[in-house]
Amino acid sequence: MNDLQKKAIEILNKNWKEGFTIPCENLYPFQWKWDSGFIAIGLAHFNIERAKAEIETLLNAQWKNGMIPHIIFHNESDTYFPGKDFHNSFLSPNARKEYPSTGLVQPPVLGFVLEELYRISMNKEAIMRYIETHIDKVFLNHQYFYMKRDVHNEGLVYIYHNWESGTDNSPMWDAIWETFDPPKYEFERRDTDHIAAEQRPTNREYEYYLYLIDIAKQYAYDDASIAANSPFLVQDPLFNSLLIKSNESLIKLYKILGGHTDKIEQLTKWNTKAIASFNSKLWNNDLKAYVHYDMRNERQLVYASSSSFAPLFAGIPSEKRCSELLTTLKSRFGMPGYYLCASFDPSHTGFNPKKYWRGPVWINMNWIIFRGLRRYGADELANRVKEDSIELIEKCGFYEYFDPRMESYRQEAIGLGGTNFSWSAALIIDLLNE
Ligand code: SER
Repeated sequence: MNDLQKKAIEILNKNWKEGFTIPCENLYPFQWKWDSGFIAIGLAHFNIERAKAEIETLLNAQWKNGMIPHIIFHNESDTYFPGKDFHNSFLSPNARKEYPSTGLVQPPVLGFVLEELYRISMNKEAIMRYIETHIDKVFLNHQYFYMKRDVHNEGLVYIYHNWESGTDNSPMWDAIWETFDPPKYEFERRDTDHIAAEQRPTNREYEYYLYLIDIAKQYAYDDASIAANSPFLVQDPLFNSLLIKSNESLIKLYKILGGHTDKIEQLTKWNTKAIASFNSKLWNNDLKAYVHYDMRNERQLVYASSSSFAPLFAGIPSEKRCSELLTTLKSRFGMPGYYLCASFDPSHTGFNPKKYWRGPVWINMNWIIFRGLRRYGADELANRVKEDSIELIEKCGFYEYFDPRMESYRQEAIGLGGTNFSWSAALIIDLLNE
């Protein structure tokens, strides 16, 4: 085991809080859904029991309608805003009374995370017993998405908040913010106590975030009312790619378990419809990239971002389209002097190489893109994504995000956002063990 891996394990041990792993001390002091999924992949390499516990803790908080919340407030902490009192999940009759949470979701990673646990685990029999106990909860979660969040029955689910996308502060949301005008809020940010304000969203952006939650609360987090009333309603290519990938993983795992033909059939139907709609609705032929669709204003949001490449991970593009997408990846993101993969198009005026999701490299996105490139046999690019990820971590440490411009490391190598960041540690362990 090399030193980088030892350091990664130390971080994950330190961030473990009896049942789940916090993404990062102070900045994110609770359990986050997609973080936990990526963290479990890293944990599986050195402590499979803890990987299992991580996912089990998350699934325990699943709502009665199958929804899995984006943050579970298991513990008390005053270092984060907005906390459980603002979100007030108990407004929803579906929430679990024992687990205060948000009423938002995050990208659906759990299907492919279960498959990763199966792949990594040495004891296949034991891990299949675990999977057998938990897989139906993930299936129910997918059923929730297709029943409640696919308003046109087209196989593409919506998100109603930028925090549901995972790519919280991407410049593409600016186009949505232009369409409505939230009131002023009195509130105290906590994130900027820990991280320099220029690396985080603005106060005005937080007002949009809070207002969208207030609208959902007004309807007691009822999905149909949110779909009818939220000014933010988007079909996100990252979110839908991870759902499609997770459907595929559930199919594989149900086949290993044997039986479950109804569920396999249902998952196959969802994926057939989803992939067809994805390729017709979310592809932009001028940009030669997958993009977001703003359902409220019936338009594509024509921006290339790291989310544009997530469909590779789920096998969505044809070979021809894949080669067009790779040209976009190389020409817009992979120019000389840039680490792969910036989270937003470096040639766009909205690009900011140091600000949260407006340009920096993220290790979880690199892991998704790396896997996607491998799937299509694009090994040269895949290796570059892997090596860039490792180099950035070696240079700077296990940060939350990284400036993609190589020149910015000439004087000083400093990462951005939170430090000792759990998914950066977890996924480097996985990349190093490839
Ligand atoms: N990551 C978000 C935040 O900045 C919430 O998921 O608080």
